[in-house]
Formats: sequence, C-alpha cells, structure tokens
Amino acid sequence: MGAADRLHQVFLNLLENALLYCRPGDRVTISLRRTPKGVECVVCDTGPGIPAEHLPHITRPFYRAAPQAVPGSGLGLAIVEEVLRRHGSRLEIESRTEGPERGTQVRFVLPAETGASSHRARQGSGDHDVSPELGS
Ligand SMILES: Nc1ncnc2c1ncn2[C@@H]1O[C@H](COP(=O)(O)OP(=O)(O)OP(=O)(O)O)[C@@H](O)[C@H]1O
Ligand SMILES: [Mg+2]
Repeated sequence: MGAADRLHQVFLNLLENALLYCRPGDRVTISLRRTPKGVECVVCDTGPGIPAEHLPHITRPFYRAAPQAVPGSGLGLAIVEEVLRRHGSRLEIESRTEGPERGTQVRFVLPAETGASSHRARQGSGDHDVSPELGS
C-alpha cells in the first residue's frame, strides 16, 4: 500500500508540473504502455520547456529553473527521482524551449518484476513457478 501511495505521488508531481508550467492552449498527455521490461510511463507537455543549462540539475532538491512565475519549493522532481530509484526505475527528462518539439517529456519504466513475482508468489505454483519471459 505504501508503494502505491508513493507511485501516486510520482504521477501527481509530474502532472502538477506539466499543468502548472504550461500556458493556455498547451497540451499535456500521459501514456502508459506495457513493455517486456515493465510499464513505460510518459508525461509529455507542449509547454515552455526547461532551458538546457538547467536540465542536468533539475532533479536536485530545491532547484528551480529561474525565474519562475509559479510558486514552488523545487522538491517535486527530487521526490519523484528518489521514489523511482527505490522502485528500481530511473527518471529520464527531455525538454526543448523552442521549435516544433517544444515542451517537456518525462519518462520512466516501472519494472514488471515486482508485481509479477509477488503475483506468482501468491499463486504458490511450487516447482513450476518459473517465468522465463520475465527473466533477465
Ligand atoms: N513540465 C515542466 N515544464 C517546464 N518546467 C518544468 C516542468 N517541470 C519542472 N519544471 C522546472 O523544474 C523545476 C523543478 O521542478 P520541481 O517539481 O522539482 O519543483 P517545483 O515545481 O519548482 O516545486 P514543487 O516542490 O512545488 O514541485 C521547476 O521549478 C521548473 O522550473
Ligand atoms: Mg513541481
């Protein structure tokens, strides 16, 4: 249950960013896709983007791409990164401030391993509890 709450927080923080930093007319999309490695989650927006010089630092606690009209503490992405790390996942952020691809894309993959293996454990299939398609 704790893990579900944390993941809830991840999506909330990312959607909050996408919505807060976007301007009227911008678009925010969220997509989930099952892949062999797990569930790929992407939160994408067509907002102003994060300037390239800030990108390498953007997940540091209290770091904000200045100047921001929107109030905030600069902790959201740091929390997201840490929660994902504890789930065996990694945050990838791409962003452009100009051109037709302007906007921010945040991507991570939640490993299938955790949910699938606990499901198998609950099934208690004993000797036959082997799942080659999930092996690494
Ligand atoms: N989707 C986005 N579009 C543009 N800039 C973004 C986006 N997401 C994050 N940023 C930039 O990254 C900075 C850090 O984001 P983060 O969520 O860590 O903190 P915050 O939004 O400033 O505060 P809070 O702790 O309330 O979330 C933001 O201040 C903003 O400059
Ligand atoms: Mg935020």
